[in-house]
Amino acid sequence: MKTIFSGLQPTGTITLGNYLGALRHFPPLQDEFNCFYCIVDQHAITVPQDRLQLRKNIKSLAALYIAAGINPEKSTIFIQSEVPAHAQAGWIMQCISYIGELERMTQFKDKSQGKEGVSSALLTYPPLMAADILLYNTDVVPVGDDQKQHLELTRDLAERFNKKYNDIFTIPEPRISEVGARIMSLQEPTKKMSKSDQNIKSTIFLLDDEKQIEKKIKSAVTDSEGIVKYDKENKHGVSNLLTIYSILSNKTIPQLESEYEGKGYGDFKADVAKVVIDSLKPIQEKYYELLDSALLDQILDEGAEKANKVASKMLKKMENAMGLGRKR
Ligand code: TYM
Repeated sequence: MKTIFSGLQPTGTITLGNYLGALRHFPPLQDEFNCFYCIVDQHAITVPQDRLQLRKNIKSLAALYIAAGINPEKSTIFIQSEVPAHAQAGWIMQCISYIGELERMTQFKDKSQGKEGVSSALLTYPPLMAADILLYNTDVVPVGDDQKQHLELTRDLAERFNKKYNDIFTIPEPRISEVGARIMSLQEPTKKMSKSDQNIKSTIFLLDDEKQIEKKIKSAVTDSEGIVKYDKENKHGVSNLLTIYSILSNKTIPQLESEYEGKGYGDFKADVAKVVIDSLKPIQEKYYELLDSALLDQILDEGAEKANKVASKMLKKMENAMGLGRKR
């Protein structure tokens, strides 16, 4: 059986972009693959976090994983910092990375530009992500479009290690879906939807209530043409809403275009809001049931145990290949 690894950062509530680009793809893979779904809290601290809020966000994301359909009996769900091999392997991957290649990462450039006191971990975070993936002999990594460059680096680092030390790593393939891999901001639809957007109207969070979703979609930026048509070059806002609508309704974009022929953006937006609300509702209900249950802790304990077993074996192989410590 082939292996899947993916993860989301527990920084605030995840967005509709995170869901459509990544999380929604996780459950259907469970029957076909050996899946590891990680809550990457060590990635979250590359920027300052409030201690209590981070703790809350970690549990919240775990509950959302399960509420969105990840089945702990089929997949391993765990918290990155509870599996120490990640940080240890991350250090090794840093040692084989070049500063130049890390500086070329667009996420590093975006997150550090114009800022003072940028943490060095913002630069060295891609080698940690590579370690996350490589520790599990991962074959496939389902992610959104913005992680493509990090996946390319992961492959380069794995090949470099295999050539230089010992051929121990599987070279992972990214899996980026054709639709929804880059959901755009509702207010500036040329930018991707992001948790950290200053304008809260730009982003739908997975736990937003009906009113918030309606309001945000109603005020989504479109254009003055008044025609519901997919045109990624000239109609960014409408194309983004069509993408969201199409994924969540299982209707194709041409189908939706003809359904809304002769209708205005008002009707269209009201229906987009409805489909988003209806899709998130069952996830939210399950989430609130799970959040404070003892079951969640039990799932995370078991997940950490399973992940530790697999990851510590690979870590030993890495250390042996490099001559660290004594041979075991
Ligand atoms: P993160 O937490 O920023 O995002 C989690 C996942 O959501 C996807 N995503 C989007 N997809 C579509 N539209 C958007 N607007 C959008 N915004 C985010 C991301 O592509 C990602 O798949 N470095 C990673 C976390 C990570 C990881 C890993 C992922 C750490 N180790 C190992 C895979 C494998 C990150 O910061 O994702």
